[in-house]
Amino acid sequence: MFWSGVKELVHEYAANGQRYVTLEDTLIGYLAEGLVFCGQESAPGMNYSRCPSWWECPFEAGEAFWAHASQTFASAASGQVTVMLDGSSTGKPAYRQDSFFGKYELPYLKKGVVTNVRVFLVHALDAPMSETCLNGSLKLLEEDVVSRGFSFSCLDDPLAILHLLCVDEPADRECKLATDHVTSGGRLASHSFALTRQPLIISAKLDRFDGLPSRG
Ligand SMILES: NC(=O)c1ccc[n+]([C@@H]2O[C@H](COP(=O)([O-])OP(=O)(O)OC[C@H]3O[C@@H](n4cnc5c(N)ncnc54)[C@H](O)[C@@H]3O)[C@@H](O)[C@H]2O)c1
Repeated sequence: MFWSGVKELVHEYAANGQRYVTLEDTLIGYLAEGLVFCGQESAPGMNYSRCPSWWECPFEAGEAFWAHASQTFASAASGQVTVMLDGSSTGKPAYRQDSFFGKYELPYLKKGVVTNVRVFLVHALDAPMSETCLNGSLKLLEEDVVSRGFSFSCLDDPLAILHLLCVDEPADRECKLATDHVTSGGRLASHSFALTRQPLIISAKLDRFDGLPSRG
């Protein structure tokens, strides 16, 4: 699973490779995750006191490492691939062509090996939806995906991810998922879901949702 802007959430959802495998679940990604490292031209070759931040020093060791790791990870992907993006960010579009995903992952997916790029567009609870599957940078992503020969699908707030967000905020307005519990003989007789969010599916090619409950 690829991602941009949702580092914590994507890893909670992926569950250390049990649901999905992210780059950080691979051995090399796991070893380097969270590390700050850099070299220097002068002796001793390593700088043990200070590393420049990536915005001060384009393509420094950290970016070079992650760029290569991303390319390798993307080149190994097959079938349906999933990317989780942030639809609530006000500063940055959910999909950026200059992100690692845009520069080093999407372009390295293999045509004929990868079939479908599926987006999970997530929105923070009670935050404005700056973008949905039908607008903004998601349209650009669809063009970039389709022009590479893959089919595209996009889902706003898959229920499983909404439930995960609600684990920490059960009292939130958007987490009133089960509002009408009427028990009958110990079994749940009625169960109504809040309709504040409706997942939108574009692309008829999406025929199954791995691990996601469908809305019925
Ligand atoms: N685990 C990581 O730290 C990491 C870093 C880069 C790329 N990736 C891979 O790329 C995608 C995420 O990257 P993105 O750019 O699309 O999302 P993003 O904008 O959320 O950035 C991901 C992480 O990379 C750091 N980062 C951003 N630009 C950097 C740069 N120029 N040099 C070094 N670090 C930088 C950010 O601090 C952030 O933690 C994922 O799909 C993942 O597979 C992972």
